Amino acid sequence: MSTIKLIAGIVSGVTLLASSAFAAEYTIGFSQVGDEGDWRPAFSKDMQEDAKTRGIDLKFADAQGKQEEQLRAVRAFIAQKVDAIIIAPVVVTGWDQVLKEAKRSNIPVFLADRDVEVTDKSLFVTRISADFNLEGKLAGAWLAAASKGNCDIVELQGTVGSAPAIERKKGFEAVISNFPNMKIVKTQSGDFTTEGGKKVMEAFIKATNNLEGICASFAHNDNMQLGAIQAMKEAGLKPGKDVLMVSVDYVPAIKKALDAGEANASVELRSAIGKFIYPVVTDYLQAPKELPKWIVIPSDLHTAAASKMQ
Ligand code: AHR
Repeated sequence: MSTIKLIAGIVSGVTLLASSAFAAEYTIGFSQVGDEGDWRPAFSKDMQEDAKTRGIDLKFADAQGKQEEQLRAVRAFIAQKVDAIIIAPVVVTGWDQVLKEAKRSNIPVFLADRDVEVTDKSLFVTRISADFNLEGKLAGAWLAAASKGNCDIVELQGTVGSAPAIERKKGFEAVISNFPNMKIVKTQSGDFTTEGGKKVMEAFIKATNNLEGICASFAHNDNMQLGAIQAMKEAGLKPGKDVLMVSVDYVPAIKKALDAGEANASVELRSAIGKFIYPVVTDYLQAPKELPKWIVIPSDLHTAAASKMQ
């Protein structure tokens, strides 16, 4: 063998070694809801960064809040023959068909964060998420204590038909139903956005003569509450003082509002989901086995008083 051929052989061997050392072990498709609010972009960033540290080739698809986009993305992942698919579903319904297509192609599907309602639970491996119902209960229990069980409430709902909007409402109502003098007097969807929350609160302010008799605002997420805070301040009201403010997510902007006394409590929804979900997905890909249908990520309640002590 000539010296040149020998060197070329060594170089191509080294190149092969180097490329296999860096080749991603798994390719995973992730269909994300969109980028509404502050919590979801933090969740997307975590999924992308955590995938890199684990050597996962993540195909990320932002559905811009549209289920049709998610269905398209999942079908594209199937066509690309990814090793696994993770979906954070916009709404709970409408998933049977596409999940059947993934199953026929032997591609396991995992749910992150939000839930689906399907006829056959074997269409997905497991869901890794917080307990939205518990979050609603924690918000309701905090409010029952803070108002001594006496409270007319305005509610800002999340995206209609989404798991967190459905479950947070149910959990909250389950708790306040134990108190005869606690009731939701106005409720409307602000679609989990700051602008949506502001618009909804402006409408509530108009309809209730400047929130007369209203003791609390329960928002299904912090961003709607932040919009509600703006609307209340523009109307000359003092959120956190005139009206108790309780919401979900515990994003940095609500921490500031808690410190400023403009919000009173927020239930934390962890955004670092990668560290919970990727080990489950990769272990499953190495050795497929039956898993519980729901792996729960814990939730914590944060109050203005506790926030000042941190
Ligand atoms: O699915 C979780 C919810 O979706 C978060 O509470 C909200 O901020 C997000 O958009």
